[in-house]
Amino acid sequence: MKALADVTAKYLTDGWQSATRTFEVVEPASGKVLANVADCDAQAARRAADVAWEAFERWRATSAFERSDVLARWHDLIIANTEALATTMTREMGKPLKESRGEVKYAAGFVRWYAEEAKRVYGDLFPAQDPTKRLLAMPQPVGPAFAITPWNFPLAMVTRKAAPALAAGCTFVLKPAEQSPVSALLLADLWLEAGGPAGTLQVLPTSDPAPLSTVLIEDPRIRKLTFTGSTEVGRVLYAQAATTVKRISLELGGHAPFLVFGDADLDNAVAQVMASKFRNAGQTCVCANRIYVHSSLAEEFTERYAAAAERLVVGDPLDAATDVGPLVDAQAVAKVERHVAEAVDGGARVVTGGKRLGGLYYAPTVLAGVRRDALLMREETFGPVAPIVTFETEAEAVRLANDTPFGLAAYVYTRDLGRAFRVSEALEYGIVGVNDGTPSAPYAPFGGVKQSGIGREGGPWGIQEYLNLKYVALGLGKA
Ligand code: SIN
Repeated sequence: MKALADVTAKYLTDGWQSATRTFEVVEPASGKVLANVADCDAQAARRAADVAWEAFERWRATSAFERSDVLARWHDLIIANTEALATTMTREMGKPLKESRGEVKYAAGFVRWYAEEAKRVYGDLFPAQDPTKRLLAMPQPVGPAFAITPWNFPLAMVTRKAAPALAAGCTFVLKPAEQSPVSALLLADLWLEAGGPAGTLQVLPTSDPAPLSTVLIEDPRIRKLTFTGSTEVGRVLYAQAATTVKRISLELGGHAPFLVFGDADLDNAVAQVMASKFRNAGQTCVCANRIYVHSSLAEEFTERYAAAAERLVVGDPLDAATDVGPLVDAQAVAKVERHVAEAVDGGARVVTGGKRLGGLYYAPTVLAGVRRDALLMREETFGPVAPIVTFETEAEAVRLANDTPFGLAAYVYTRDLGRAFRVSEALEYGIVGVNDGTPSAPYAPFGGVKQSGIGREGGPWGIQEYLNLKYVALGLGKA
């Protein structure tokens, strides 16, 4: 892989880019400038739409086998460059290095899955009432797609979208988050190295997303919008996409309940809530936001959870021993502080943590006796804070879990098989982990219900989001 400076410089000068300004990407751990990247504007977006449209004509005409080969090479290059990608990601947004290494593998997993899936986009030949007709359902690529991705998974949220789009024969224009454009640029460079034709995957970093995104969303040649981010922004994009009636996928905010029933395996529940809550310093859409524990276990669960949280190593994310790094920026820390203060004012007890540690670091926090209507029980905190609330009955637990406009992920801890089924079916969520705090996988469907989104990413479902089904009715005529 080329040096980081060469990759970011290239994106300032490429023929299809018209950016003349740059913006700084700042490392959350040190406050140092990691890179200066092109600051693309509305004009760059118009040019990118032209390029994506021209490239689509050629890319759609390639065979699925050819696209599969390029994706397979891309996968291999991503894996071969694990250390460079992981280090860049950690410096760019503060994720601990061991998690970044895991994310490289996760991101590459989507590429590998869709390298294989490209060859399994089957249509149907189905029966007609009229014996002189043959009827076909023929999948075809939707067209150029525009993606907006978040900073919390700078590689995996890109490949989760780009790999199925490119496998299906779509071209792909990406606006990465302002905080994490460098990882996306490195990925795009590896795509070219893998033999991906110019213009099939374009990255437009920007410090001012609205004008650029508006151009691409309003361009009728862009046929698909895919977004991962907040529900608030998702609503605006959904309305904008209606003007050109685009295909749309929205992966929006979550507010995951984590239910621990009286018959749960406590060791497993504590280990898994740790993984779910403190991964990426709590900056994931699927992390446990509200922890409901049956009253019979609450005391022991809280003690063990707090003890485990205190053992976490908080520090420099580039240090291989670090479990929890800094939050992404000052705004993120301010939100966590506001949520904790409001909960404590409302009577919550800080079992551990509950304070800023300097810079953008916040201590892993466990709160007990939290009011059910506290701010952090309703809004995504996006930080390392675990509020615990008790419940008495299964019906009460399900009611509390569903009492939210969100519906992305939920978790259930029980050893009762009947309860596992009953509760999974009753939860209004797109993803349910039963005795499993980390259910995401490249081959599994990911997505929400209610105000957590539209559409599914991953597995065979993910590629359907980039395909239109054409019905062809064929009259045979006479021999
Ligand atoms: C997210 O938090 O947005 C994605 C998490 C995952 O893929 O597990």
